[in-house]
Amino acid sequence: MKSEVLAVLTVLVCSGSCLQCYDRAELLKAKEGIVQCACENNRNCVNNTCWGNYCIYTLVDEVERRGCLPSLEQCHVPDRPGLYCDCCFTNFCNQNSSVPKEDPVEGKYMREILLVAVSLLVLLMVIAAGCLILWLRTKRQRHQLVKDDTSMLKVPIGVDPTYGDIFDEFCTSGSGTGLPYLVQRTMARQISLVECVGKGRYGEVWRGTWMGESVAVKIFSSRDEQSWFRETEIYNTVQLRHENILGFIASDMTSKNSSTQLWLVTHFHELGSLYDFLQYRTLDPESCLCMCLSIASGLVHLHTEILSTQGKPAIAHRDLKSRNILVKRNGQCCIADLGLAVIHSQSNDYLDVGNNPRVGTKRYMAPEVLDESIRVDVFESYKQTDIWALGLVLWEITRRTIVNGIVEEYRPPFFDVVPSDPSFEEMKKVVCVDQYRPSLHNRLHSHPILSAIAKIMKECWFQSPSARLTALRVRKTISKFDQDHDYDIDKLKLDL
Ligand code: ADE
Repeated sequence: MKSEVLAVLTVLVCSGSCLQCYDRAELLKAKEGIVQCACENNRNCVNNTCWGNYCIYTLVDEVERRGCLPSLEQCHVPDRPGLYCDCCFTNFCNQNSSVPKEDPVEGKYMREILLVAVSLLVLLMVIAAGCLILWLRTKRQRHQLVKDDTSMLKVPIGVDPTYGDIFDEFCTSGSGTGLPYLVQRTMARQISLVECVGKGRYGEVWRGTWMGESVAVKIFSSRDEQSWFRETEIYNTVQLRHENILGFIASDMTSKNSSTQLWLVTHFHELGSLYDFLQYRTLDPESCLCMCLSIASGLVHLHTEILSTQGKPAIAHRDLKSRNILVKRNGQCCIADLGLAVIHSQSNDYLDVGNNPRVGTKRYMAPEVLDESIRVDVFESYKQTDIWALGLVLWEITRRTIVNGIVEEYRPPFFDVVPSDPSFEEMKKVVCVDQYRPSLHNRLHSHPILSAIAKIMKECWFQSPSARLTALRVRKTISKFDQDHDYDIDKLKLDL
């Protein structure tokens, strides 16, 4: 009877893999034929028990069976799916046997799931690496494109009556859209640098000659290359021909001793910057009016979007100051340095603030820039900061204007309250906390032109940016005044 049970069990289930569950030496220690086991689903069970040397539990095709075995060797079943087998050697040790929590079948799938997950992860990493390479390559290509594009010389259109016309003549011949790249490079290399006329953090300005004509060459310091990119981009993409905006001739990038040289070639103005000019020259009220009007006109041109085929977006300068304004022989001024400018097109709904790490000149910063309340995403904000700076430039000019035989020394704005090269905090204290404004000499109020300009200045310096005048309003007020008083334009020209 006992042997029959065992035979059935052996045929049905017994396995080799069961041995893996136990220490083989321990199993061999088991005494022979004296173990009573739980018996289930087995026709040889007597009261659900049986006798043997080993107890066995099997799960075959989801059917549980319990029984007895005479020897260890019979604990062998072929390893196949859907089968689980467990041998043990103490009384009723198979009573509570069951499939362990981690089903070997499931474990097998786990391995596959893990494999799929790892493969997916590797695939994702490959895709990410591919995207990164693609992005870097596109970025490099775009950078190259900008370099190529910005080094294209664009044609200056229109005539500057106060400037040698050779460039205009040369540049307006042909298609009128710019010189070919090679011609432009050739031209840049034909310039002879004659004398350095300015030096600063930005780099140097040289007077050079090209075909016997003077040109100004601004050589950018390597740390200010973003200003070169920006200025070149603006001059090349925006129609900026205006008598009160510095005339552009060429932009070039060259390599010298493994370092990059960035050149901006413009019209040369022998009187230099307004800052330099005011150091040694005084003005009469009419000349003052002419200068102020020309600067306001230049700013109106920058600030205004023109909608036509030859149109332009609106531009805010962001670093307006007397050092960035040049004096022309006819007594008018022109605005220079567009390295920090922001571009806005209402019609195309875009605001391009560029990516220049440079900031404006602290001395000329508006209160909202100093207290950092400026709304950097609103183009109007930048125009309002230009107006603040315009007021300061007008103040510098009026100090050097003779009224009733009185004139003041040249001084930079806020000279009386901050040191030279003031810090951001020093300017903030004066402009935002103390709300100090440059003082206006009494003599200005006794002259119709100067008192009108004094009133404009005050209205450029409102703490609230939106309360300030617009460039257009400044120009209109000055030009209306100019017409009202019927000044002789010839008298406005500087006697040089
Ligand atoms: N200083 C800076 N730019 C200049 C220019 N274009 N002409 C003369 N002097 C300058």
